[in-house]
Amino acid sequence: MTKEVVPNRKISQNNGAKPFPIRGDRTTAYVNIPHVIAMVGLPARGKTYIAKKLTRYLNWIGINTRVFNVGEYRRQATKLYRNHDFFRPDNKDALVIRNKCAIDALDDMCSWLEEGTGEVAVYDATNTTFDRRQLIYDTVVNKYGYKLFFVESFCNDPNIIDANIREVKVHSPDYRDVSNEDALKDFVQRIEHYQLAYEPLDEDREKDFSFMKIYNAGEKVVVHRHEGHIQSRVVYYLMNIHIIPRSIYLTRHGESVYNLLGRIGGDAELSERGWEYSKALAKYISEQNIPRLRVWTSQLQRTAQTSEAIKAPQERWKALNEIDAGICEEMTYEEIQTKYPDEFALRDQDKFHYRYPKGESYEDLVARLEPVIMELERQENVLVVGHQAVLRCLLAYFLDKSSADMPFIKVPLHTIIKLTPLAYGCQLEEIIVPIAAVDDHKLL
Ligand code: SIN
Repeated sequence: MTKEVVPNRKISQNNGAKPFPIRGDRTTAYVNIPHVIAMVGLPARGKTYIAKKLTRYLNWIGINTRVFNVGEYRRQATKLYRNHDFFRPDNKDALVIRNKCAIDALDDMCSWLEEGTGEVAVYDATNTTFDRRQLIYDTVVNKYGYKLFFVESFCNDPNIIDANIREVKVHSPDYRDVSNEDALKDFVQRIEHYQLAYEPLDEDREKDFSFMKIYNAGEKVVVHRHEGHIQSRVVYYLMNIHIIPRSIYLTRHGESVYNLLGRIGGDAELSERGWEYSKALAKYISEQNIPRLRVWTSQLQRTAQTSEAIKAPQERWKALNEIDAGICEEMTYEEIQTKYPDEFALRDQDKFHYRYPKGESYEDLVARLEPVIMELERQENVLVVGHQAVLRCLLAYFLDKSSADMPFIKVPLHTIIKLTPLAYGCQLEEIIVPIAAVDDHKLL
């Protein structure tokens, strides 16, 4: 059956959407039609983890994305959660509240997209029945004319489910004054209620829907009728992420001769203190005994020299090279200010979008670094020895910083930043190595 699509907004226009960040050319593709990504799955299957992580990624690549979580609407509506009885399929009073919350979140989400600045909305709810998914389709596709992509997290591995409940669910606001063991028991019963009505996405019955199914946190992935660029990006990203515990270590190269001179860019060697840092870094890394560590550097000599003494497999990435300052390469800030006062002022106005003539902007850098992020997501323990602007972009991704804040993130020399993924974010530790270095926070 073909459905007639009656969009109530003009979809042929750009609607103020930002250019989609295609590396090297940001003017040819646009997010013309807003997208809804609707999660599907029983409780404790990592839906919120996927929703938040995907949202962080899409925002980082420049697509304005927001999560709408139905559980939060329910907490607002009922305030006090007593126990799993609320989720019994035969609890009629509760069903009225639950349906209202789902519809309120759906309406708010579509209104947000309708305002014009939002490009992708992630509808984070269980959506475990055919009827609920049909309702979402009728609203998102038939009423608004948006694109809809379901992402189901199917999981029958008891270890993954148990870890999820213990790490996330027992700390939920639903269990504020409840012991972990009681919360665990209640949550398991909540899942059982959902299980009674669970209808996984069905390739025959829901053959017109676009969706992907992720089995046991990435063991297998099925993609059905995905359409368009955004959905391909979503599929590709979600195929690359994993939940194996690991840490990512980030550090800038040791102090370079150009750091001492206040010059940006170039391919200078390490200063004497930079070489000291290189030795200290190798010692620190060796003391940590990090299993299967891989070391990535740029192709500039200051990062390779910094990692030289580390005993681990090393890779040199051109994509990790420092931002290209174009005509300002190898100049001091004072020289730039004197020779190119207009450029200097322009950069101050909008550091993220400012592109050095014949060089790059932070926005360009994000596009260049996307494959690095994708590969980092695939890997386990990695040490990245990079540069100030490059690490600001990587940190903005992991710490969910806006593009406006990205160019100002502090990444001092001679400091190791350890990022350890937690349930819905990253834990950050800073290890300051006591070897003096210039403070060049303002440069680049
Ligand atoms: C919840 O109320 O916590 C979840 C709502 C849902 O089933 O999507």
